[in-house]
Amino acid sequence: MNLKRKKKAHQVGLLGRLMAKLPSSWPLLYPLYLAAQLDTVEETYASDRWPKEFDGLKVAYVSDIHYGSLLREDRVRSLAERVNALQADIVLLGGDYGEHSDGAVTFFLLKPGFKAKIAVLGAFGNHDRTLPEKNAEKIAQAMRQDGVIPVLNDAYLLSRNGKQIAFASADDFFNGKPNLEKLAALCEKADFTVFFPHNPDILPETQKMPGGLFYQLAICGHTHGGQVAVCGKAVKSSSIYGNRFLSGWFREAGADILVSNGVGASGLPVRLGARPQIHLLTMKTKA
Ligand SMILES: [Fe+2]
Repeated sequence: MNLKRKKKAHQVGLLGRLMAKLPSSWPLLYPLYLAAQLDTVEETYASDRWPKEFDGLKVAYVSDIHYGSLLREDRVRSLAERVNALQADIVLLGGDYGEHSDGAVTFFLLKPGFKAKIAVLGAFGNHDRTLPEKNAEKIAQAMRQDGVIPVLNDAYLLSRNGKQIAFASADDFFNGKPNLEKLAALCEKADFTVFFPHNPDILPETQKMPGGLFYQLAICGHTHGGQVAVCGKAVKSSSIYGNRFLSGWFREAGADILVSNGVGASGLPVRLGARPQIHLLTMKTKA
């Protein structure tokens, strides 16, 4: 894998300009300010496994929006505009649309209107899979009404000139019923599989599968980069593996892994050491 990275400088908003005028004794407001920012991280992902038939495909990733009292409808609308301006071929929504499963239904009933040239695919996070269980179907229905294809223990397959790629996602690792064997079977014939489960804690389970890994690239959210992190370590990790999958790029068991800081915040509207972010990957075939 080769990565070329360019991060778009974010524009300082009204809140930022106001804060610049505040006395230096007000740094405690900085975590509130940071939680309201958003970076677009643009990178080139190159792999010799990526089929040349799909060279240049653009994949956007947006996770952990957490719509609700901490992130209101106006920010959802501006987020969708920002994502749509990327003109991605595939948009992957990484889950945790609200603070609970009712919130996820409400989020999609807002019709945020995420757009992609080929497909917008939606994963399910731990906050989306809170009870009642029947809400999973309600969320899926609301997704479809907004043009999003739900991917719950399923794979979206794309074929070109005899080559196939797959975008697969499992049910949530904490609150759902992931079916990795089903995913492995669905992706068996794919030349390259992008696995986008919400929680990276599921990845060690895939490493134990007798048939080996069924994907080459995993893209996850959930950790919020720690949400409040000091010196690259989460003050309170949401992962059973602590900081193993905190944020950024990793490589394990022959697969590449990208963990996003996500967009929103959970619990308190604060961030430190973990800037909110969305991603745009340009997929290239390594010569
Ligand atoms: Fe989250």
